[in-house]
Amino acid sequence: MFDVNATRKDFPILSRTVNGKPLVYLDNGASSQKPQVVIDAVTKAYAEEYANVHRGLHFLSNLATEKYESVRGIVAKFLGARDEDEIVLNSGTTEGINMVAYGWAMENMSAGDEIVLSVMEHHANIVPWHFLRERCGVVLKWVDVDHHGNLDPQAVIDAIGPKTRLVAVTHMSNVLGTRVDVKAITKGAHAQGVPVLVDGSQGAVHAPVNVDDIGCDFYAITGHKLCGPSGSGAIFVKKERMAEMRPFIGGGDMIKEVHKDHVIYNDAPMKFEAGTPGIVQTIGFGVALDYLMTLGMDKIAAYEDQLTKEAAQKLGALNFLHLQGQPNDKGAIFSFTLDGAGHAHDISTILDKRGIAVRAGQHCAGPLMDHMGITASCRASFAFYNTSQEIDALVDALHLAHDLLG
Ligand code: ALA
Repeated sequence: MFDVNATRKDFPILSRTVNGKPLVYLDNGASSQKPQVVIDAVTKAYAEEYANVHRGLHFLSNLATEKYESVRGIVAKFLGARDEDEIVLNSGTTEGINMVAYGWAMENMSAGDEIVLSVMEHHANIVPWHFLRERCGVVLKWVDVDHHGNLDPQAVIDAIGPKTRLVAVTHMSNVLGTRVDVKAITKGAHAQGVPVLVDGSQGAVHAPVNVDDIGCDFYAITGHKLCGPSGSGAIFVKKERMAEMRPFIGGGDMIKEVHKDHVIYNDAPMKFEAGTPGIVQTIGFGVALDYLMTLGMDKIAAYEDQLTKEAAQKLGALNFLHLQGQPNDKGAIFSFTLDGAGHAHDISTILDKRGIAVRAGQHCAGPLMDHMGITASCRASFAFYNTSQEIDALVDALHLAHDLLG
């Protein structure tokens, strides 16, 4: 049984007020809050254990290196990867996908080759592919979602043609909460010899992930959405794909030898981690993942499913509110507009006055907004530390927003 009230005590920020009201933090899709264990780990790393990693032959450097390197194994465990050498540590999903774009796709694709994407990708899983379109003539092939916000795995598989070299798809929409059957997509893509990249920014936050079971080639996650520090993250890269990938950032640490006429790179995954990394951020990220695994991602998922059902029912009952997309398999993310309300920013400003934090705007998902025919929406995105009472606070504040704006 998941004890939300006990869990909330782990997060100091949740007991603060905003605009004179108890904070109701529903902007977890943008970034999650941090438990005390992560805050303490970051403080300790700076106060007692800080030095650069992989370089010094002194006590603190060795200690920091040991702590930093241990995170690779923690990420592997969190993602169900077989081998920690399949984990590249980085600053988050954006860097991970850019690494695949420059390091793998640019090496393995040429003009006219295709990348299959869904319309509900986050810009982090769109813009790097536009770079390839602009620079190498790669073609982006888009798969629509239906009017409920469902992405049919078969539609993705059917979009694969003889020139397709990659499928890049989200595990969960950051706007609609749609959970995507990435396992089925991977199976269908692999049957045609096409690798699959999964953007796990949201998917990995809300349910257990097992990359071995999914079978995907790349799976990117972001630390700050997983209760870790900003500037931390990782990407799983299957061994075979890693062997096909070239480093895309050069510098110290990723190199064994540098000469005037040639260089010898470090072994993978180190050769994909140039320069001084986010040492303390990554150490904090490891502690955050351990914290989540101790709570149990399965328990988190079950509790959030309960919250999602309740929020869907209570928000769905508001006849002045338009929920964007009601997919069959939905995580705890709700986007909406209100009858008569001006811009989504006006709604979020009213909610903010009641201490409720939501995101308003395009949510870094331009093609999806175009597909849905709207320019902006409000988004309430829940975490395992949110409560039923907070859903009620949101509903009350939405009534107020409707009265004021409608
Ligand atoms: N990707 C984050 C969001 O969806 C920033 O809000």
